[in-house]
Amino acid sequence: MLSYKDKIDISRLPKHIAIIMDGNGRWANEQGYDRIFGHQNGVISVRETTEAAAEIGIEYLTLYAFSTENWNRPQSEVDALMELLIDTIEKETPTLNKNNVRLMAIGDLSRLPGNAAEKLQRCIAQTSINTGLALVLALSYSSRWEITNAIKNISNEVKEGKYSTEDINYELISKHLTTNTIPDPDLLIRTSGETRISNFLLWQIAYTELYFTQTHWPAFRKENFYEAICNFQQRDRRYGKCEEKK
Ligand code: IPE
Ligand code: IPE
Ligand code: MG
Repeated sequence: MLSYKDKIDISRLPKHIAIIMDGNGRWANEQGYDRIFGHQNGVISVRETTEAAAEIGIEYLTLYAFSTENWNRPQSEVDALMELLIDTIEKETPTLNKNNVRLMAIGDLSRLPGNAAEKLQRCIAQTSINTGLALVLALSYSSRWEITNAIKNISNEVKEGKYSTEDINYELISKHLTTNTIPDPDLLIRTSGETRISNFLLWQIAYTELYFTQTHWPAFRKENFYEAICNFQQRDRRYGKCEEKK
Protein backbone atom coordinates (compact mmCIF):
# COMPACT_ATOMS: atom_id res chain seq x y z
CA MET A 1 0.00 0.00 0.00
CA LEU A 2 1.24 3.48 -0.86
CA SER A 3 2.04 5.65 2.12
CA TYR A 4 0.68 9.20 2.25
CA LYS A 5 4.21 10.42 1.68
CA ASP A 6 4.33 8.60 -1.68
CA LYS A 7 1.04 10.17 -2.72
CA ILE A 8 2.23 13.76 -2.27
CA ASP A 9 2.74 15.77 -5.45
CA ILE A 10 6.09 17.41 -4.71
CA SER A 11 5.52 20.03 -7.42
CA ARG A 12 2.47 21.44 -5.57
CA LEU A 13 3.59 21.56 -1.97
CA PRO A 14 2.12 24.08 0.44
CA LYS A 15 4.84 26.65 1.03
CA HIS A 16 3.81 27.36 4.60
CA ILE A 17 2.08 24.98 7.02
CA ALA A 18 0.92 26.19 10.44
CA ILE A 19 -0.11 23.85 13.25
CA ILE A 20 -2.18 24.36 16.39
CA MET A 21 -0.62 21.61 18.48
CA ASP A 22 -3.54 20.70 20.73
CA GLY A 23 -4.53 17.81 23.00
CA ASN A 24 -1.40 17.17 25.07
CA GLY A 25 -3.31 17.20 28.35
CA ARG A 26 -6.16 14.97 27.15
CA TRP A 27 -3.74 12.49 25.59
CA ALA A 28 -1.90 12.15 28.91
CA ASN A 29 -5.04 12.03 31.06
CA GLU A 30 -6.57 9.31 28.88
CA GLN A 31 -3.61 7.13 29.85
CA GLY A 32 -3.70 8.04 33.52
CA TYR A 33 -0.77 10.46 33.41
CA ASP A 34 -0.59 14.14 34.29
CA ARG A 35 -0.75 16.90 31.68
CA ILE A 36 3.00 17.55 31.80
CA PHE A 37 3.62 14.02 30.50
CA GLY A 38 1.56 15.03 27.48
CA HIS A 39 3.68 18.13 26.90
CA GLN A 40 6.87 16.06 27.18
CA ASN A 41 5.60 13.66 24.54
CA GLY A 42 4.46 16.57 22.42
CA VAL A 43 8.13 17.42 21.95
CA ILE A 44 8.62 14.11 20.11
CA SER A 45 5.82 15.12 17.73
CA VAL A 46 7.49 18.50 17.17
CA ARG A 47 10.71 16.70 16.23
CA GLU A 48 8.90 14.25 13.92
CA THR A 49 6.87 16.95 12.20
CA THR A 50 9.87 19.23 11.71
CA GLU A 51 11.79 16.34 10.19
CA ALA A 52 8.82 15.39 8.00
CA ALA A 53 8.49 18.96 6.73
CA ALA A 54 12.23 19.27 6.03
CA GLU A 55 12.32 15.88 4.26
CA ILE A 56 9.84 16.87 1.57
CA GLY A 57 10.95 20.48 1.21
CA ILE A 58 8.33 22.59 3.02
CA GLU A 59 9.64 26.16 3.32
CA TYR A 60 7.86 27.37 6.48
CA LEU A 61 6.44 25.45 9.43
CA THR A 62 4.79 27.52 12.16
CA LEU A 63 3.98 25.80 15.44
CA TYR A 64 1.61 27.34 17.99
CA ALA A 65 3.44 26.36 21.16
CA PHE A 66 2.12 28.80 23.76
CA SER A 67 -0.66 31.38 23.50
CA THR A 68 -1.13 34.67 25.34
CA GLU A 69 -4.09 33.02 27.07
CA ASN A 70 -1.94 30.05 28.14
CA TRP A 71 -0.28 32.37 30.71
CA ASN A 72 -3.56 31.94 32.65
CA ARG A 73 -2.92 28.23 33.26
CA PRO A 74 -1.77 27.07 36.73
CA GLN A 75 1.74 28.38 37.45
CA SER A 76 3.08 24.80 37.78
CA GLU A 77 2.02 24.01 34.20
CA VAL A 78 3.39 27.30 32.85
CA ASP A 79 6.71 26.63 34.60
CA ALA A 80 6.88 23.09 33.24
CA LEU A 81 6.18 24.33 29.70
CA MET A 82 8.88 27.02 29.94
CA GLU A 83 11.38 24.52 31.29
CA LEU A 84 10.56 22.11 28.49
CA LEU A 85 11.04 24.92 25.99
CA ILE A 86 14.49 25.79 27.33
CA ASP A 87 15.58 22.14 27.49
CA THR A 88 14.32 21.34 24.01
CA ILE A 89 15.83 24.37 22.32
CA GLU A 90 19.18 23.66 23.88
CA LYS A 91 19.16 19.97 23.00
CA GLU A 92 17.82 20.39 19.47
CA THR A 93 20.08 23.18 18.19
CA PRO A 94 22.70 20.77 16.74
CA THR A 95 19.97 18.73 15.00
CA LEU A 96 18.44 21.88 13.54
CA ASN A 97 21.84 22.81 12.16
CA LYS A 98 22.42 19.32 10.83
CA ASN A 99 19.10 19.47 8.96
CA ASN A 100 19.68 23.04 7.70
CA VAL A 101 16.66 24.32 9.69
CA ARG A 102 16.43 27.99 10.68
CA LEU A 103 14.58 28.78 13.91
CA MET A 104 12.38 31.86 14.16
CA ALA A 105 9.94 33.02 16.84
CA ILE A 106 6.80 35.17 16.84
CA GLY A 107 4.91 36.46 19.86
CA ASP A 108 5.41 38.69 22.86
CA LEU A 109 8.82 37.26 23.71
CA SER A 110 9.34 39.95 26.38
CA ARG A 111 6.98 37.94 28.60
CA LEU A 112 9.15 34.81 28.51
CA PRO A 113 11.34 34.14 31.58
CA GLY A 114 14.85 35.59 31.08
CA ASN A 115 16.63 32.27 30.59
CA ALA A 116 14.03 31.03 28.09
CA ALA A 117 14.28 34.23 26.03
CA GLU A 118 18.08 34.05 26.14
CA LYS A 119 18.29 30.41 25.01
CA LEU A 120 15.73 31.08 22.31
CA GLN A 121 17.67 34.06 20.93
CA ARG A 122 20.88 32.03 21.02
CA CYS A 123 19.33 29.21 19.00
CA ILE A 124 17.86 31.71 16.53
CA ALA A 125 21.29 33.28 16.06
CA GLN A 126 23.06 29.91 15.76
CA THR A 127 20.70 28.68 13.05
CA SER A 128 20.21 31.98 11.22
CA ILE A 129 22.34 31.13 8.20
CA ASN A 130 20.51 27.87 7.46
CA THR A 131 18.72 27.87 4.12
CA GLY A 132 16.31 24.93 4.47
CA LEU A 133 13.05 24.83 6.42
CA ALA A 134 12.16 27.87 8.53
CA LEU A 135 10.70 26.61 11.80
CA VAL A 136 8.64 29.39 13.37
CA LEU A 137 7.66 28.99 17.03
CA ALA A 138 4.64 31.00 18.14
CA LEU A 139 5.39 31.71 21.79
CA SER A 140 3.34 33.93 24.05
CA TYR A 141 1.56 34.64 20.79
CA SER A 142 -1.96 35.73 20.06
CA SER A 143 -3.35 37.32 16.96
CA ARG A 144 -5.24 40.04 18.80
CA TRP A 145 -2.05 41.01 20.64
CA GLU A 146 -0.19 41.15 17.34
CA ILE A 147 -2.86 43.18 15.50
CA THR A 148 -3.24 45.60 18.43
CA ASN A 149 0.51 46.14 18.39
CA ALA A 150 0.51 46.71 14.65
CA ILE A 151 -2.25 49.34 14.98
CA LYS A 152 -0.30 51.14 17.71
CA ASN A 153 2.85 51.18 15.58
CA ILE A 154 1.07 52.31 12.43
CA SER A 155 -0.70 55.10 14.37
CA ASN A 156 2.61 56.34 15.74
CA GLU A 157 4.21 56.29 12.32
CA VAL A 158 1.30 58.24 10.84
CA LYS A 159 1.66 60.75 13.69
CA GLU A 160 5.38 61.08 12.91
CA GLY A 161 4.49 61.80 9.28
CA LYS A 162 6.14 58.63 7.90
CA TYR A 163 3.00 58.08 5.83
CA SER A 164 -0.61 59.24 5.68
CA THR A 165 -3.82 57.40 6.56
CA GLU A 166 -4.42 56.87 2.82
CA ASP A 167 -1.22 54.80 2.63
CA ILE A 168 -2.69 52.17 4.96
CA ASN A 169 -3.44 49.05 2.92
CA TYR A 170 -3.28 45.26 3.38
CA GLU A 171 0.40 45.20 2.55
CA LEU A 172 1.31 47.86 5.08
CA ILE A 173 -0.66 46.07 7.79
CA SER A 174 1.01 42.73 6.95
CA LYS A 175 4.39 44.44 7.20
CA HIS A 176 3.62 45.50 10.76
CA LEU A 177 2.79 42.01 11.97
CA THR A 178 5.38 39.72 13.59
CA THR A 179 5.07 37.50 10.51
CA ASN A 180 6.25 40.29 8.17
CA THR A 181 8.95 38.18 6.50
CA ILE A 182 6.79 35.04 6.32
CA PRO A 183 4.23 34.24 3.61
CA ASP A 184 0.64 33.52 4.72
CA PRO A 185 0.02 29.85 5.57
CA ASP A 186 -1.40 27.68 2.80
CA LEU A 187 -2.52 24.99 5.23
CA LEU A 188 -3.48 25.17 8.92
CA ILE A 189 -3.69 21.93 10.88
CA ARG A 190 -5.33 21.62 14.30
CA THR A 191 -5.03 18.38 16.21
CA SER A 192 -7.27 16.90 18.88
CA GLY A 193 -10.71 17.48 17.43
CA GLU A 194 -11.33 21.11 18.39
CA THR A 195 -12.55 23.11 15.41
CA ARG A 196 -11.55 26.61 16.48
CA ILE A 197 -8.66 28.98 15.85
CA SER A 198 -7.92 30.10 19.44
CA ASN A 199 -6.44 33.49 18.52
CA PHE A 200 -3.88 32.16 16.04
CA LEU A 201 -2.83 34.08 12.88
CA LEU A 202 -6.30 35.59 12.30
CA TRP A 203 -5.12 38.06 9.67
CA GLN A 204 -2.79 35.64 7.93
CA ILE A 205 -5.28 32.76 7.48
CA ALA A 206 -7.78 34.75 5.39
CA TYR A 207 -7.40 32.23 2.52
CA THR A 208 -5.67 29.36 4.29
CA GLU A 209 -7.06 25.82 3.94
CA LEU A 210 -8.08 24.41 7.34
CA TYR A 211 -7.57 20.80 8.33
CA PHE A 212 -8.82 19.29 11.58
CA THR A 213 -7.86 15.87 12.88
CA GLN A 214 -9.00 13.93 15.96
CA THR A 215 -5.41 12.78 16.63
CA HIS A 216 -3.98 14.32 19.81
CA TRP A 217 -0.73 16.18 19.30
CA PRO A 218 1.52 13.68 21.17
CA ALA A 219 0.25 10.91 18.86
CA PHE A 220 0.85 12.97 15.69
CA ARG A 221 3.49 11.38 13.45
CA LYS A 222 4.99 11.94 10.01
CA GLU A 223 2.24 10.02 8.22
CA ASN A 224 -0.43 12.20 9.90
CA PHE A 225 1.39 15.25 8.58
CA TYR A 226 1.67 13.79 5.08
CA GLU A 227 -2.02 12.79 5.19
CA ALA A 228 -2.93 16.44 5.85
CA ILE A 229 -0.84 17.53 2.85
CA CYS A 230 -2.55 14.92 0.61
CA ASN A 231 -5.92 16.25 1.77
CA PHE A 232 -4.78 19.81 1.01
CA GLN A 233 -3.70 18.79 -2.48
CA GLN A 234 -7.22 17.60 -3.31
CA ARG A 235 -8.71 21.03 -2.69
CA ASP A 236 -9.57 23.76 -5.15
CA ARG A 237 -8.47 27.19 -3.90
CA ARG A 238 -10.65 29.81 -5.59
CA TYR A 239 -9.88 33.00 -3.64
CA GLY A 240 -13.37 34.28 -4.29
CA LYS A 241 -13.17 33.80 -8.04
CA CYS A 242 -15.10 31.25 -10.09
CA GLU A 243 -14.25 28.85 -12.91
CA GLU A 244 -13.77 30.57 -16.26
CA LYS A 245 -16.74 29.85 -18.60
CA LYS A 246 -15.63 27.94 -21.67
C1 IPE B 1 -1.59 21.87 23.71
O1 IPE B 1 -2.17 20.92 24.50
C2 IPE B 1 -0.36 22.51 24.32
C3 IPE B 1 -0.54 23.89 24.79
C4 IPE B 1 -1.61 24.61 24.64
C5 IPE B 1 0.59 24.50 25.46
P1 IPE B 1 -3.12 21.33 25.71
O2 IPE B 1 -2.27 21.59 26.91
O3 IPE B 1 -4.02 22.42 25.33
O4 IPE B 1 -3.94 19.99 25.93
P2 IPE B 1 -5.51 19.84 26.03
O5 IPE B 1 -6.10 20.57 24.87
O6 IPE B 1 -5.91 20.45 27.32
O7 IPE B 1 -5.76 18.37 25.98
C1 IPE C 1 -4.28 26.72 21.56
O1 IPE C 1 -4.64 25.65 22.35
C2 IPE C 1 -2.92 27.21 21.92
C3 IPE C 1 -1.81 26.31 21.59
C4 IPE C 1 -1.90 25.17 20.96
C5 IPE C 1 -0.53 26.77 22.01
P1 IPE C 1 -5.50 25.83 23.67
O2 IPE C 1 -5.71 24.48 24.23
O3 IPE C 1 -4.86 26.84 24.55
O4 IPE C 1 -6.85 26.46 23.10
P2 IPE C 1 -8.33 26.36 23.63
O5 IPE C 1 -8.31 26.74 25.08
O6 IPE C 1 -8.77 24.95 23.44
O7 IPE C 1 -9.10 27.30 22.76
MG1 MG D 1 -5.82 22.56 24.41
